[in-house]
Amino acid sequence: MTADEPLVLGIETSCDETGVGIVRGHTLLADAVASSVEEHARFGGVVPEVASRAHLEAMVPTIQRACDTAGIQLRDVDAIAVTHGPGLAGALLVGVASAKALALGLGKPIYGVNHLAAHVAVDQLEHGPLPEPCLALLVSGGHSSLLRVTDITGHEGGIDPLGATIDDAAGEAFDKVARLLGLPFPGGPHIDRVAREGDQVAIDFPRGLTGRRDLERHRFDFSFSGLKTAVARWVEARERSGEPVPVADVAASFQEAVCDVLVRKALDAASAEGIEDLMIGGGVAANSRLRAMAEERAGKLGIRVRVPRPGLCTDNGAMVAALGATMVARGRQPSSLDLPADSSLPVTDVLAG
Ligand code: KG4
Ligand code: ZN
Repeated sequence: MTADEPLVLGIETSCDETGVGIVRGHTLLADAVASSVEEHARFGGVVPEVASRAHLEAMVPTIQRACDTAGIQLRDVDAIAVTHGPGLAGALLVGVASAKALALGLGKPIYGVNHLAAHVAVDQLEHGPLPEPCLALLVSGGHSSLLRVTDITGHEGGIDPLGATIDDAAGEAFDKVARLLGLPFPGGPHIDRVAREGDQVAIDFPRGLTGRRDLERHRFDFSFSGLKTAVARWVEARERSGEPVPVADVAASFQEAVCDVLVRKALDAASAEGIEDLMIGGGVAANSRLRAMAEERAGKLGIRVRVPRPGLCTDNGAMVAALGATMVARGRQPSSLDLPADSSLPVTDVLAG
C-alpha cells in the first residue's frame, strides 16, 4: 500500500445489508456491515420498507465504525463510491442520498457504481489486480450470470454478458429450497451447513439447460426453477408416504445439482472464450461445495480460480469501495451529483454518468 493510492469510502445498501467499506487502492482498511436480516427472517424474505428504514438507522453509526476501524477521518478520503443499482429502490435511495451528502459536504467526487460489477471487483482486495480478460461467474440472491470481463470499470464494453438465468437466480433457489426443508432465511448458508452431513448422490435432481437441445440455444444460460419444483415434488412424495424427509440428503443433492451446472457452464464458457482465469462472486460464491468443485474441475483444465473469502462474497461496502478505487486509479470521470438510484440497472452499466 502506498499513500498515493486512492483512499475510497464505499457505501452499499441494495438489499438488507448496510455496508461501509474503506480501501486504499487494493488494500482493505475497514469493512463495517450492519444487517437487518433478523428483522426479515419471520417473513421468509426481505421486506423492502423494513430494509430501507434499517439502512436509515444504521448508516451514520456504520460510517463511524468504518472510519474508526480504518483509523481515518472522513475528510481524508479521496472519493465516495456508492451502489446506485441494481437492488431495492428504497434501499438504494438511502445509500445514494447518504453518499451525495458526504460528497457534497466533504467536497469530494462521487462514483455511482454497479452492485454486480462490485461483486467481481472485490476480489482485488484479496488476490490483487483482476486478470483482464477474466470470466466471472456472478451468483447472488437476485442474479446468476456469466460475464466476459475485459475492463471491470465497464469502459468500452468492458463487461460482456455471455449468459444469465432465464428464471430463478441461484441464491433464490437456495432460499426457496431451504424454506421447503424448514431451514431459516436466508437459506444458502443453512443448506451449505446441513449438506455436509448428507449424501450428494442420494437423489438425482435435474441439471437445468444441460440437455443437447437446450445447449444449442442456452449454452451459457441457467435455469433453476425446474430443479426447485423437482425438490418440492420429491419432498411432498416423501411426506405423503409417511416416511421422514432426509433433510441432509435432499440439501446435499440439491446443492450438488446447482454447483454442477454453475461450474460446468462457467468452465465451458472460459474454454470457449480462451480465458484462463475464472472469478466467482456474489453471495452464493460463499458456498463451500461450489468453491471446492470449481477448484477441482478447473485445475484439470489448467484454469485458475479466484474466489474471495466468504465474508467478501455476501453484500458489503468494501466491494463498492474496491470498484470505486479502480475507477479513480484508471482516471474514470466521477458521476454527477444528481445520479439516480436505478433498481434495474443492467450489469453492463458499471459507472453512472
Ligand atoms: O450477493 P448477496 O449477499 O445479495 C444479493 O446481491 O442478492 O447474495 C445473497 C444470496 C442469498 O440467496 C443467500 O442464500 C446466498 O447468497 N448465500 C449462499 C451462501 N451464503 C449466502 N448460498 C449458498 N451457500 C452459501 N454458503
Ligand atoms: Zn449482492
